[in-house]
Amino acid sequence: MSDTFNPLVNMTEVLGHNTGKEIRPDETFIETALPGFKLALNARRSNRIYDDEKIPEEIMRDCLKDALLAPSSSNLQTYELYWVRDEDKKKEVQHACFNQPAAKTAAEIIVVVARGDLWDVNLKKLVHIMSRGGIKELPKVVDDYYHKITPMIMKTDAFGIYNLIRRVRFWYKGLTKPFVRTPINKADHRIYAHIQSSLAAQTLMLSLAAHGYDSCPMGGMDGLRIKKTLGLPRQAEVSMVISTGRGKTEGLYGARVRLGFDDLIKEV
Ligand SMILES: Cc1cc2nc3c(=O)[nH]c(=O)nc-3n(C[C@H](O)[C@H](O)[C@H](O)COP(=O)(O)O)c2cc1C
Repeated sequence: MSDTFNPLVNMTEVLGHNTGKEIRPDETFIETALPGFKLALNARRSNRIYDDEKIPEEIMRDCLKDALLAPSSSNLQTYELYWVRDEDKKKEVQHACFNQPAAKTAAEIIVVVARGDLWDVNLKKLVHIMSRGGIKELPKVVDDYYHKITPMIMKTDAFGIYNLIRRVRFWYKGLTKPFVRTPINKADHRIYAHIQSSLAAQTLMLSLAAHGYDSCPMGGMDGLRIKKTLGLPRQAEVSMVISTGRGKTEGLYGARVRLGFDDLIKEV
């Protein structure tokens, strides 16, 4: 596939992850990758009580690096993961999570932050990386995508003028053909950012499980206090806090419960 159709080539190489050949799923994966994936997927439970075991730093770093492989809209990666290593800050975050056991007993805590406000900063970084620091000219379709289409979708202003332009434009264009409907307004942009951060969160938890550690996502927390602890700007929003460590059996509050396949999966 040429750069024109696959503009975001080798981001993993750029990130220093899986350097070398791109890994592609193929027919051998059902035997090689699937067993490990199923094991990690099923082992990932929300465990709320951890023992005193520490997680080696290199494992934490590897899991966090894995999280960065989560997909994101336009690859803008509008999230940040705060690995809370400072003991005082960790206590504050635990307190902001109401000292619930999953927070209080955690070996490590990661705050997942939605950073929709960073879309343009990240866009510039992305273009810089893809153009190899401005040396390589981007294919026109990619250049247009990042310099025309993405700003048209993402740009906002205090008075909502861009939102209004978008609303009219999306509605008009959508009259005759399929057209993107969101994000239009502030709420849409917030949702957009939380989508990206949540995908990173889930990728992180799966990686933690694959590395042999438990985790618990926490939405039961005071995001405003956590923002203060982390010194985050007003526009940043805490999506969730993830605790991790070596979980105890009693940290699983019962067997896994799920709704039925037909409740959630609709074949149309
Ligand atoms: C966004 C989000 C917020 C959550 N918040 C909390 C929380 O504050 N405290 C908690 O003990 N569990 C929390 N959970 C864990 C859920 O209760 C748990 O995922 C669910 O019961 C399914 O169990 P499982 O994760 O073991 O499969 C949260 C999960 C998600 C996805």
